[in-house]
Amino acid sequence: MRCRECGYRSVRWLGRCPGCGEWHTFVEEETGVRAARRGTPAGDPPRPLTEVAGAEETRLTSGIAEVDRVLGGGFVPGSVVLLGGDPGIGKSTLLLQAAVRVAGAVGRVLYVSGEESALQVRLRAERLRAVHPALYLAPETDIERVEKHILELKPVIAVVDSIQAVSLDGLAAVPGSLGQVRECTVRLTRLAKNTGIPVLLVGHVTKEGVLAGPRTMEHMVDTVLYLEGDRHHAYRILRGVKNRFGSTNEIGVFEMDSAGLREVENPSRLFLSSGSVPVSGSVIVSCVEGTRPLLVEIQALVSTTGYGNPRRLTAGVDTNRVILMAAVLEKRVGMLLSGQDIYVNAVGGVRISEPAADLGIALALASSFRDRPVPAGTVVVGEVGLTGELRPVPQLGKRLREAAKLGFDRAVLPAGGANEPGGEGLRLLAAGSVAEVLDLVLTK
Ligand SMILES: Nc1ncnc2c1ncn2[C@@H]1O[C@H](COP(=O)(O)OP(=O)(O)O)[C@@H](O)[C@H]1O
Ligand SMILES: [Mg+2]
Repeated sequence: MRCRECGYRSVRWLGRCPGCGEWHTFVEEETGVRAARRGTPAGDPPRPLTEVAGAEETRLTSGIAEVDRVLGGGFVPGSVVLLGGDPGIGKSTLLLQAAVRVAGAVGRVLYVSGEESALQVRLRAERLRAVHPALYLAPETDIERVEKHILELKPVIAVVDSIQAVSLDGLAAVPGSLGQVRECTVRLTRLAKNTGIPVLLVGHVTKEGVLAGPRTMEHMVDTVLYLEGDRHHAYRILRGVKNRFGSTNEIGVFEMDSAGLREVENPSRLFLSSGSVPVSGSVIVSCVEGTRPLLVEIQALVSTTGYGNPRRLTAGVDTNRVILMAAVLEKRVGMLLSGQDIYVNAVGGVRISEPAADLGIALALASSFRDRPVPAGTVVVGEVGLTGELRPVPQLGKRLREAAKLGFDRAVLPAGGANEPGGEGLRLLAAGSVAEVLDLVLTK
């Protein structure tokens, strides 16, 4: 909203303008996404889609294969990409590394740092070996000056680190607030669309795990990526949650060390613990993230509740799925888990969300409860229904092939999957229900 007398801006309607003191002067402004998306000012007449030029997108590669994979092949001209993640997870590191590669390969890149001084960025760049004459740095928090820098420098790509740190002077809201973040995002989106320069925004995540300020921001940008991982582990996963130009299933895997984030090309064995002696509660599942198979160890600990309500704590797996699997075990197998504390982890700081890991979770719980280990070399796949039945999973062949490649020799899978190509070299144990799996696997 804007005061039509003095131009004072506010995110909401105000009866009296704090700028000039006039009453009822606030009017709706056409800033924002609406204006940015309106297309060319002259207003093109409708045309057949077949005649719209530029069907072949020219994507700009980031120089980091794992980033390109998640973007769907690189940056699309004029697109706005938001990179979210916890503080300290490595967002600035990743973007600085991408920025220097683009600068080296294509041309000028502008890195706007609203949080760190030029010296701090320079020191980090030296540590990351990310110093290049075509990489321009602007320690700047004023959005209008950021726009000016982008227009003057005409970089091939612009990075704004972070969107919470930049603000519009004269807007009655503090930097980082919803109003400021929205206004700045709108301006940068419009600039990107008008100039064709891809803009990368860094966004912080709040304690609740959403991008600070704005879910709204996710709607305004073209692509939303999250960098996630456990700060106590070296692995970081880049995940797309929204992408107007590609799939959101792909992940990129990195390892953090003193020289920055290193790409991990073959991550499938990262998320296994190193122990070779089977212990109860540990199960290896074969997951697929996007097009990539990933073997992940799930660990469960089931122990009698001391007092109070039984606890259900998880890391890296969906708590609701764990509760569901506990209920299925209780009802369909007769395992009394309601008086037990349950802890379930995915090893290595990875997060798995696909239902194909259900059987692995259920088996880990049962294994811990009965204190019987799953034999070494066993990999498990399968979705579990409410009646305890096993359902088929997508891309079974790929999961089995990866397990065989990494030296596993047995696979437990839903009935019907035993003929799947890819299982060569593995002994396949097909089962129709969770109860059957426990009989097959947890007998000593
Ligand atoms: N001198 C250093 N040596 C090794 N790792 C470092 C060094 N300085 C910072 N880091 C790592 O980089 C991380 C900070 O990454 P950064 O890109 O600033 O995160 P974000 O931008 O997401 O807040 C730290 O958590 C730390 O693990
Ligand atoms: Mg940072």
